[in-house]
Amino acid sequence: MTTTLAIIGTGEVGSQLARAVVRNGYRVVLANSRGPETLTGLVAELGPAARADHAAAAAAAGDVAVLAFPYRPEHVLPVAELADKIVLDTNNYMVWRDGHLPEVDSGEVTEHELRQRQLPTSRLAKAFTHVEAVHLFDRARPADAPDRIALSVSSDHPDAVAFVTRLYDQLGYDTVDNSPLRESWRTTPRTPAWDDHAVQGREQLAANLLRARRVVRP
Ligand SMILES: NC(=O)c1ccc[n+]([C@@H]2O[C@H](COP(=O)([O-])OP(=O)(O)OC[C@H]3O[C@@H](n4cnc5c(N)ncnc54)[C@H](OP(=O)(O)O)[C@@H]3O)[C@@H](O)[C@H]2O)c1
Repeated sequence: MTTTLAIIGTGEVGSQLARAVVRNGYRVVLANSRGPETLTGLVAELGPAARADHAAAAAAAGDVAVLAFPYRPEHVLPVAELADKIVLDTNNYMVWRDGHLPEVDSGEVTEHELRQRQLPTSRLAKAFTHVEAVHLFDRARPADAPDRIALSVSSDHPDAVAFVTRLYDQLGYDTVDNSPLRESWRTTPRTPAWDDHAVQGREQLAANLLRARRVVRP
């Protein structure tokens, strides 16, 4: 059965992920903040496996959803439409862009746990956060390639980790499981895993996760 991904946020990450998954046999329903009429070009490029809708309708249509836009505390997300679904969160917290999130800065919570709280009945996974969208295709390698790089996933839900692991493999990447979600700070900017994102294989990524030291902002 064909899996439909709701991709909410169609900037650099959302549009590139859409291209990658459509090539791998998925269907996509795309949404952004402005409305489906602004997505006709991307839908035409992607072909018959793609359509666009408003965010809540896209969320309802997806078997799995991807949130490809920055976290904001005031977001009201389509909770009912995403209930009982795996939701991938591609966000990286950037103070220069997002402002300060005090409970993240203090180390009390990760930005992905905050997102999980916005979607309490969904199964959230941090995924695709340390591969640049523009390099998603050129860094992909077949499963047996010696220079295949690894990406991390963090989630409190094993089936979400399994889904992401399968998807990474289909798109040309190995996986290192950095669960649960409260450990997801280990791949944030200024960590070793972040710095080596373009080159690290599975073993190096696993070692980098262990070497990480949490950045606490005063
Ligand atoms: N760029 C990368 O290579 C990269 C890599 C890994 C992770 N990330 C992270 O992934 C996220 C997306 O990055 P990006 O570079 O793709 O951003 P981007 O190019 O700025 O695109 C953001 C997209 O999200 C949409 N959007 C924003 N708020 C929304 C909302 N509340 N509901 C629905 N759609 C919303 C925007 O809609 P409009 O088009 O209508 O404005 C836009 O399509 C960020 O958190 C970033 O830190 C980025």
